[in-house]
Amino acid sequence: MNDNIAKAHRARRTVFITIGAVACVLALSLGAILTVGGIFVPATYLQPWKATYYQQSTDIRVQVVAHALLAPSGHNMQPWTVVLDTADANVLHLYADSSRLTPAVDPDSRQTVVSQGAFLAYLRVAAEQLGYSASFELFPDGSYDETDLRTSMSQRPVARISLAKDASVTTKDYSSLFRADTNRAPYTVAPLTTPQTEALTALADNSAARLTLLSDEKNLITLGAFGVQGTLIETEYLAATRESAAVFHGTEQSKNEARSGFAVEGQGTTGFKKYLLQGLLTIFPALNNDTATAKNAITMTAAGVDNTAAYGLISTPGNTRTEQVEAGILYAQLSLHARTLGLVMQPLSQVLQEYPTMAAPYAAIHAQYAPEGQTIQMLVRVGTPTTEYPVSMRRDVADLLRTP
Ligand SMILES: Cc1cc2nc3c(=O)[nH]c(=O)nc-3n(C[C@H](O)[C@H](O)[C@H](O)COP(=O)(O)O)c2cc1C
Repeated sequence: MNDNIAKAHRARRTVFITIGAVACVLALSLGAILTVGGIFVPATYLQPWKATYYQQSTDIRVQVVAHALLAPSGHNMQPWTVVLDTADANVLHLYADSSRLTPAVDPDSRQTVVSQGAFLAYLRVAAEQLGYSASFELFPDGSYDETDLRTSMSQRPVARISLAKDASVTTKDYSSLFRADTNRAPYTVAPLTTPQTEALTALADNSAARLTLLSDEKNLITLGAFGVQGTLIETEYLAATRESAAVFHGTEQSKNEARSGFAVEGQGTTGFKKYLLQGLLTIFPALNNDTATAKNAITMTAAGVDNTAAYGLISTPGNTRTEQVEAGILYAQLSLHARTLGLVMQPLSQVLQEYPTMAAPYAAIHAQYAPEGQTIQMLVRVGTPTTEYPVSMRRDVADLLRTP
């Protein structure tokens, strides 16, 4: 009898020891994965999102640039260079940074130029909050020499920006600057309210670009299908997938170094899950192969378009560089004000891209939605968010400033 009791005790102890050992190994492995995933590394790449970040400089021009760099940009390349005017303390010049192009998906650098407009719209909201009006003279030295675009980008400014103290300016969108611009999650099916639609539509009144908001079922289906088709084609275009992979940063260390491009935040991953995913991707890089990435992109787009209340199309009569900047200004104004109104957006740019395998859907969407020969500069999903999206990497303001 006593023997049996002793045996049972020993068996129970063995089970406890085994469970304890397994738990220890799991805890240590989890700790190791999270450490590799960067849980102890300070995220300096997020510093510009702090409300006080701009206060590091007393120069109003640097202060507005410190806000403007929060703007959205294609592939989050942040292709902006700023020169502070040496003769006028209220003037600065914006240039496109030709070392930050994405030629596979953006062969004509159209999205790079649209991203210049986004920067200007963010800058204006910051200026208004700080008591200044901002006026822009676009391409003051003339448009680019398209035969030598890269050189031209570094020589000809996109905009001459003049700031002027102005007590009459106000903005409703300042706090929206500090919230993620792009929300790639499914949205609620709640349609946009009439006041929301009217407020967004009114933003286009003063723009050279045109906005069309569509929310009827037929257009939701058609434009959603364009979104999915574009994503499918892009995932099969090796130059594009390589280009995206080259700017993807899977660890906190590389995010702190790059401060631009993509990261797991772009898929909505934050907090503990972010470090876990980054750790696993670092230890098992094969998890992040082309097939898995493509599948993820297609699944995310399909889920997104199935849960979208409206689409916005921003188009311009022609496709000049000035029009591209105007389209970017309007897109960022819309996106900022959408957040103020409790809405969010996600561009779906693939079908608007100018590489050969995208030519058929590019022509089809233009035939359907730009029948008078306009260029569609942006196609965006719009809706009420189901989740707050995390903010993504941003460069340090000093990194954007170039001496003349
Ligand atoms: C011209 C332009 C094109 C873009 N195209 C896409 C796109 O096709 N899909 C997408 O999810 N985001 C797109 N974006 C959003 C950027 O990827 C996003 O701004 C960037 O990754 C930074 O993230 P954030 O906007 O959340 O701060 C685009 C942005 C701009 C300005």
